Amino acid sequence: MPRPLAIGPIVLPGPAVQAALSGYSDPAMRLVARAHGAPYALHEVVLDTNVLQKGKLQRRILAVDPKDHPVGGQLMGSDPTHFGAAAQKLVAAGYDVVDINFGCPVNKVLGRRRGGWLLQDPDTALAMVDTVLQAVGGEVPVTVKMRRGFDDSPEAERRFFTILEGAIARGVAAITLHPRTVQQKYVGPSRWPFLARCKRHVGSFPLLGSGDLFSPFAVLAMLRETGVEGVTLARGCIGNPFVFGQIQDLLAGRPALRPTAAQQRAAIAQHWQLAVPYYGGEEKALPHVRMHVIKYGQFHAEPLWARERLVQLRRPEQLLDLVGTVFDDRFDGIRPRELRPEDAAGSDLASCSE
Ligand SMILES: Cc1cc2nc3c(=O)[nH]c(=O)nc-3n(C[C@H](O)[C@H](O)[C@H](O)COP(=O)(O)O)c2cc1C
Repeated sequence: MPRPLAIGPIVLPGPAVQAALSGYSDPAMRLVARAHGAPYALHEVVLDTNVLQKGKLQRRILAVDPKDHPVGGQLMGSDPTHFGAAAQKLVAAGYDVVDINFGCPVNKVLGRRRGGWLLQDPDTALAMVDTVLQAVGGEVPVTVKMRRGFDDSPEAERRFFTILEGAIARGVAAITLHPRTVQQKYVGPSRWPFLARCKRHVGSFPLLGSGDLFSPFAVLAMLRETGVEGVTLARGCIGNPFVFGQIQDLLAGRPALRPTAAQQRAAIAQHWQLAVPYYGGEEKALPHVRMHVIKYGQFHAEPLWARERLVQLRRPEQLLDLVGTVFDDRFDGIRPRELRPEDAAGSDLASCSE
């Protein structure tokens, strides 16, 4: 068993949490993940300015469901002065942790000197950490999400360590490290040996690892090979909240089981029920839920067949019938119930923007 993962005063009952996933990790996804064992989940990254600007987006960001705890709010921006006020708004809305994004590799974000771009500018990055820590004043823990540098140059690595050490010295509670460079985006593997090196470097300071966690077996391997206290599931938990229970099973020495068709139907129905009021009606919720529903098809006994059908989802009234037909109990017997390491989810969201 790994050491317990603590984010400041928040001690989590398990090491595997749900990552911030732009376009995906809304309250519906988080609550379904929690129902399946995720002990902590993050909202998708939000711009400091969007948190501060009145409107529908702000209302959505600040709507924290009482059952959705502990939850992290993740901020991105380029100007330290906005960051403090945005962090305070997140805390007032009920977020239990404020996370700062120094990892997003999307070109538009980099062009505005946000996200991963800040790994090139330790002074500004650390000024942002200072501002958030001051604004939050110890009310909730502050954490940081980083990639392993902007690119592969020695200078980028030096800047990475300046930010890592500076953030820890200033008092952040944990750091999540996705050991790809910003330039690398998603091409090539996540460099776990670098994560192991950082873990040794920071000693007992809580580090969460990210990257290429497409099965519960990969999660156990990352914990074992790198020594991190926690991991954040990202692409590997979209359409697959079951992974959180599978991780608990493996950690307890039990076999990890594939979800049954009934469990998949129930998870999708729960996701739909939660998404409809959040997005203000079935029509508006459908595009957000559809992406998840298609991803559930990956864990179907006949994934290609399932995908062909699930992509036909166009109208809200089709959803439950289509899901009932695709995730029919008759598929349960086709593959063995016990999950094997080769059953990992695909990484076909690799080109998605964060
Ligand atoms: C569609 C998508 C959206 C993402 N959104 C965010 C985000 O909002 N904040 C963040 O810190 N990381 C974000 N990430 C990065 C993931 O949290 C994670 O670090 C990365 O995908 C590596 O993990 P994986 O290889 O297991 O997917 C996103 C990744 C993807 C694929």
